[in-house]
Amino acid sequence: MAIDEASAAMVREWLTAAASVAVLTGAGISAESGIPTFRGPGGLWRTYRAEDLATPQAFARDPQLSWEWYDWRRANIATAQPNAGHLALAELERRVPGFTLITQNVDGLHDRAGSRRIQKIHGDIWTLRCTACGCEWRDPRPSLPELPPRCGCGGIPRPGVVWFGEGLPEDIWTAAVEAARTAELMLVVGTSALVYPAAGLVQLAQLAGAKVVEINVAKTPVSALVDLSWRASASIALPQLLQSA
Ligand code: OAD
Repeated sequence: MAIDEASAAMVREWLTAAASVAVLTGAGISAESGIPTFRGPGGLWRTYRAEDLATPQAFARDPQLSWEWYDWRRANIATAQPNAGHLALAELERRVPGFTLITQNVDGLHDRAGSRRIQKIHGDIWTLRCTACGCEWRDPRPSLPELPPRCGCGGIPRPGVVWFGEGLPEDIWTAAVEAARTAELMLVVGTSALVYPAAGLVQLAQLAGAKVVEINVAKTPVSALVDLSWRASASIALPQLLQSA
């Protein structure tokens, strides 16, 4: 759905005036690249139980099972391409000096689209971290030859993502909070805004004086709070926003 002209003019004005822009993305921005979301129709948490796969306890109980699930997700993501929404955000970053992309996504599609100023608050599925020695590395292979994989020290690495019950990476979270606090405009794209502390960034930005624009195909708990809630897919709305800027 295209945005109406009056709203487009308003967002254009906010975007032009904003010296700092923060963008918070969620699984919805990658949906049109063929990556399932978590909670919508076909969402991962409708088929799989997070407590069986994505908690420190689940991993300690059965690292093989957890890794099979992450390996399947990695293979799926590896075949996906960034869509027009990811590309538009990379372009926006080139145009706005004070730009920060805060993503809950672990898929790496923002990097592949060319975004560089990214705070990955839920980690990165292409990173492995050894549970024994703590060393961390990137492994871009869509399918790992051995599950669970092994670290050089003999320990079992875990996916470099944030699991339920875990804190967010401290430096990254601090940078995300700072970006939200100082943003003059925040775009909230393709997130159900149900998972905290990430969702709290929206209110934080708004309380600190930012204009907040939501782009989502469905209504969320923040829809009624934001300055403009745009019911549209990210791959259509973001390029349109950019065009108008
Ligand atoms: P969700 O699956 O909770 O929400 C996806 C949102 O995207 C929904 O609000 C959809 O309406 C919207 N959506 C779907 N397709 C869209 C499209 N083409 N354009 C725009 N919006 C679209 O995903 P997240 O909000 O990212 O956490 O979930 C947050 C966290 O919950 C994830 O990072 C993950 C999960 O448990 C961890 O793994 C720690």
